[in-house]
Amino acid sequence: MSLEIKGGTIYREGAFVANEGLVIENGEGVIDVGNSFLLPGLCDVHVHFREPGQEYKETIETGSRAAARGGFTTVCTMPNLNPPPGDLDALRVSLACIERGRASGAAIQIVPYGTITRARDGRGELSDMEALAPYVCGFSDDGTGVQDRANMRAAMELAKSVGRLIVAHCEDDELVRSGRIRESEWRQIERDVKLADETGCGYHVCHISCRESVEVIREAKKSGVDVTCETAPHYLLLDTDTLERDINAAPAFGGRYKMNPPIKDRADRIALIEGALDGTVDMIATDHAPHSDAEKRTGFAKSLNGITGLECAFPALYTWLVQAGAMPLERLVEMMADAPRRRFGFADNGYSVWDFETPYRIDSATFCSKGKWTPFDGWPVYGRNRMTICDGRIVWKG
Ligand code: DOR
Repeated sequence: MSLEIKGGTIYREGAFVANEGLVIENGEGVIDVGNSFLLPGLCDVHVHFREPGQEYKETIETGSRAAARGGFTTVCTMPNLNPPPGDLDALRVSLACIERGRASGAAIQIVPYGTITRARDGRGELSDMEALAPYVCGFSDDGTGVQDRANMRAAMELAKSVGRLIVAHCEDDELVRSGRIRESEWRQIERDVKLADETGCGYHVCHISCRESVEVIREAKKSGVDVTCETAPHYLLLDTDTLERDINAAPAFGGRYKMNPPIKDRADRIALIEGALDGTVDMIATDHAPHSDAEKRTGFAKSLNGITGLECAFPALYTWLVQAGAMPLERLVEMMADAPRRRFGFADNGYSVWDFETPYRIDSATFCSKGKWTPFDGWPVYGRNRMTICDGRIVWKG
C-alpha cells in the first residue's frame, strides 16, 4: 500500500521544486496539497518531555503531539528526568515511557539522551555510557554544565570509545555566581573545543546564545575540530532591546521570556544570524521546556527557566527570519531538518505540509503541549502545518 501526495512545492536536496507526485510506502490514499509546501519532517535535537518524573509539566504523549503538530517527526529528549538515565535500569524507565507515550500520543521518532554524569549534575562519576550507547542519541547533562575539565575529558574519551556525541549545556557555575553570564557559556565552550580536539570526540554545543560562542566555534571549525552547535528560535528573534519593553508592558507575563541561557543583546542576535548563514551555527533546536502555569505566572524574576517551543518555532522563524529577508527558506529547512539528521545519524522519516499563505496569530491556548508559556504567544505569523506524516502514517492533521 502507498500514500500519494499530489501538488505543491517540495524540498529536494536543498532546493524547492514542483511536486510531480510523491509516493510514500506504508501509507494509504491520495492527497492533493494544492499550494502547500512539502518539507521534510523536522528534527529537534533538544526537547524536554518531563517523563518520567514531572508529568504535570509534560508527558511523552502531550509532547509528541506538540512535536507532530509543529512539523517534527524526530525529537531527542533531554535527560533531566527522575530517574536520570545514567545507567541501564534508569534508561529502561525512560524507554518504557517513550514506548507508551508514542502509542497514546503521536507515533514520531523519539530518541533519548543518556546523561554524562551519573546524577546529571555535572559532577562526579560518569554514567554507564557503554551500556547506554545502543539506545541513546548522545550524552548530555542538559540543565547543568560539566564543571571540571578532567571530568569532561574523561567523558569525551568514553563517549568517543562508544561512538556517541557529547552534547553540552555550557555553563560555568563559578562564573554565573560572579555575574559573568556570557563568559559562563563561551569559556566552557572554549575549554571543550580544545578537549574535543585532543580526544577526537564528536562535540555538539546546546543552545548557544552569545556572539563570543559563535566566534569560538567558528575558529574551532576552521582548525578542524569535530564540533557542531545549535541555537534556539528565541535567541535568533529576541534581544534585550525589546525584552525590557515587552516585560514592562505586561509584567504578569514576564515568565514568557525566562529561560536559561538568558536572551542576550542585539549584537548577539545578529552574530547568531550571521553564524547561521555562514554555517558556524549548524542547526536550530527549540529547547522546548514546558512548565506549569503556576511556575511561570510569577513574573520574570521568580519564573522557572524554560519556554514551550515545538508548536510555534517553525512559523515564528519562517515569518520573522525568512519573510523578513534575513534567511533563505532553504537554509531554515536545512537547519531544522537536514543538519540535525546528518549530525545525529537519523534518516529522513517523513514530511510536513505547510500553508504559507494564510496569516494567523500564535495562540498558546491551542497548544497540544501542557506548557503554554512562549514569548511568541500572540505573534502574527505565516506557516500553518496542515499535516505531518511519519513513516507513512499521518501523525498530525490540522
Ligand atoms: O530554560 C531552560 N529550561 N534551560 C535549561 O537548561 C533547562 C530547561 C528545563 O529543563 O526546564
